[in-house]
Amino acid sequence: MQRGYVPFLYSVAVLGLAAAVPEECTIIEALQNKLTYQQRLQYMKHYFPINYTVNVQFEEVLRPSNITRLREQDVSELSLRCLWLSVNSQVLPKIRAVLLEKHPSWEYIQDLCVLFEQLDEEYEDCNQGKMDTTVWDVVEQVLTGDAGSSRKPVRPKALLDNCVKVMRMLYNESCASRSLPGQPERRQLPAHGGAIGGGN
Ligand SMILES: *[C@@H]1O[C@H](CO)[C@@H](O)[C@H](O)[C@H]1NC(C)=O
Ligand SMILES: *[C@@H]1O[C@H](CO)[C@@H](O)[C@H](O)[C@H]1NC(C)=O
Ligand SMILES: *[C@@H]1O[C@H](CO)[C@@H](O)[C@H](O)[C@H]1NC(C)=O
Repeated sequence: MQRGYVPFLYSVAVLGLAAAVPEECTIIEALQNKLTYQQRLQYMKHYFPINYTVNVQFEEVLRPSNITRLREQDVSELSLRCLWLSVNSQVLPKIRAVLLEKHPSWEYIQDLCVLFEQLDEEYEDCNQGKMDTTVWDVVEQVLTGDAGSSRKPVRPKALLDNCVKVMRMLYNESCASRSLPGQPERRQLPAHGGAIGGGN
């Protein structure tokens, strides 16, 4: 891993991109490492009862198709990231809330929640003034958890699948050198094998 990084860091420095969004991409990379297919499958499917679902708001089901549609409407990338961030900052605690702390998936979800909290601190611009109105309205709805909003039962793995797919769409270019998208899944496994096996 370290060896691969040296030429990468060098080329970034040469291009003058080093200061662009370093902290953000570090967190995205950590999320990418935690959201591998194997981990999503194990923690969000195998450790849950068959066909288990979590109730979320309709607006909390954020798929790649939503992003494609919003991009066609010329919504800013910042707005899209803010939307993805707010949706998942709501969804992850909802999954955590159905688990006892001793559940083998609790720590996994907790780690993801912490990463999203860290990412949230990088996004001071996610406010009404800086975001596109259409997206802001959705974010507001998500954040207020409007009691009148329709709910939908969704499988926890599907929620995380959406999370990671949209993340790749939003960050594959700006954090491209951080091994997005997708291809490192198998390389990451050994590093996380210990954490998986070490569950309580
Ligand atoms: C789970 O859902 C599938 C359809 O999605 C259904 O065929 C299956 O019988 C369900 N299993 C249980 C145990 O409810
Ligand atoms: C995503 O699109 C679906 C329709 O395909 C819609 O119901 C949902 O509200 C959209 N979500 C967001 C966050 O825009
Ligand atoms: C990023 O993903 C989009 C599709 O969402 C694709 O069109 C684009 O080529 C990708 N960019 C890179 C650098 O992989």
